[in-house]
Amino acid sequence: MKITLTAIKADAGSIGGHICPSEQLLAAVEDTISRQGRGLIIDYSLNYTGDDVAILLTHDRGIDNERVHRLTWDAFLAGTEVAKTQGLYGAGQDLLKDAFSGNTRGLGPAVAEMEFEERPNEPFLMFTADKTEPGAYNLPLFLAFADPMHNAGLILSPAAGKGYLFTVMDVDYSEGDRVIELVTPENMYDLATLLRDNGRFVVESIHSRHDGGISVSCCTTRLRNIAGKYVGKDDPIMLVRTQKNFPATGEVLAPFEICHYVSGFMRGSHVGPLMPVKARSSVSFFDGPPIVSCLAFSVRNGILTEAVDAFDHPYWDWVREKAAQKAHDIREQGFSGAAMLGIHDLEYVGISHRLDALEDDFIVR
Ligand code: 13P
Ligand code: 13P
Ligand code: MG
Ligand code: MG
Repeated sequence: MKITLTAIKADAGSIGGHICPSEQLLAAVEDTISRQGRGLIIDYSLNYTGDDVAILLTHDRGIDNERVHRLTWDAFLAGTEVAKTQGLYGAGQDLLKDAFSGNTRGLGPAVAEMEFEERPNEPFLMFTADKTEPGAYNLPLFLAFADPMHNAGLILSPAAGKGYLFTVMDVDYSEGDRVIELVTPENMYDLATLLRDNGRFVVESIHSRHDGGISVSCCTTRLRNIAGKYVGKDDPIMLVRTQKNFPATGEVLAPFEICHYVSGFMRGSHVGPLMPVKARSSVSFFDGPPIVSCLAFSVRNGILTEAVDAFDHPYWDWVREKAAQKAHDIREQGFSGAAMLGIHDLEYVGISHRLDALEDDFIVR
């Protein structure tokens, strides 16, 4: 059976700042999905990471389906209405356009979708991150799908050994979707050249070169390109099908133990380690640190199993300690150098206003 997974994530408002959504907000989202989704979708799972609500839907209507996207838009609107009545912070923060125009892409919410012929056993992962940017998945994806030092499965499995096709988007370009296709292992250095720049180049999808099947779909939304100004971080969502011709689940999870430094910490203007957390975690220290959670599912005929929390394991408690140490270490240097984003990526105008005001006071000796 051919099914579609649609994962859409948005910040519709949160308690006490940018911490997490309220129970009432989640209930309003769920109520809309279950009522309006009848006859349209097959199954759903509702979760949140930090202040972002993530809706996972299964259906047979293909990607970019107008009715399916409208359902999620209406659900986030219902959540926003509750957020307003409860005085939640940033009510409707990621719903940047006033009206739905046929597709949720480009309206604010983060979208990851894929359509595929269901395998007899179909495991997949949904990653949701908060206080970071879509490029946060670049390094873990490179290591899991292209680096045999991190994933010996690439040499153990003949199918994985055929390599993968990466589609990478230039998210700075706003006139359309500017993309490039690169294959591994042949184009590894070119791929690394692009993926080092998490703010500009983002992995959009990864396909198997063994059979062409899709493994990864990642959102590529840049809220700033939609709104023209900072309205919140582009907290990304990603779907990854695992096993058989794709890396094993554990091979996809493993690179997250690095807790690599990403941007998006506090006001979207600081750099912090990406901490793998349990599902439905909030943020705290310095509006962070940047967090990522991962839910594992299996699906048959579009019916989802219960979600299993992939980072809820003693090993990841140790990794979280490490991330906390890395967060502490970089916060020790305050505004200095690598602790903050460069001037062109800063999400607030205060610093550029100050620099402008100082312009006339400079002298050239
Ligand atoms: P099993 O032998 O338990 O199926 O595991 C295979 C595998 O993919 C382990 O990473
Ligand atoms: P969110 O994008 O998660 O709402 O965070 C905004 C922010 O600036 C927190 O400091
Ligand atoms: Mg927020
Ligand atoms: Mg958020």
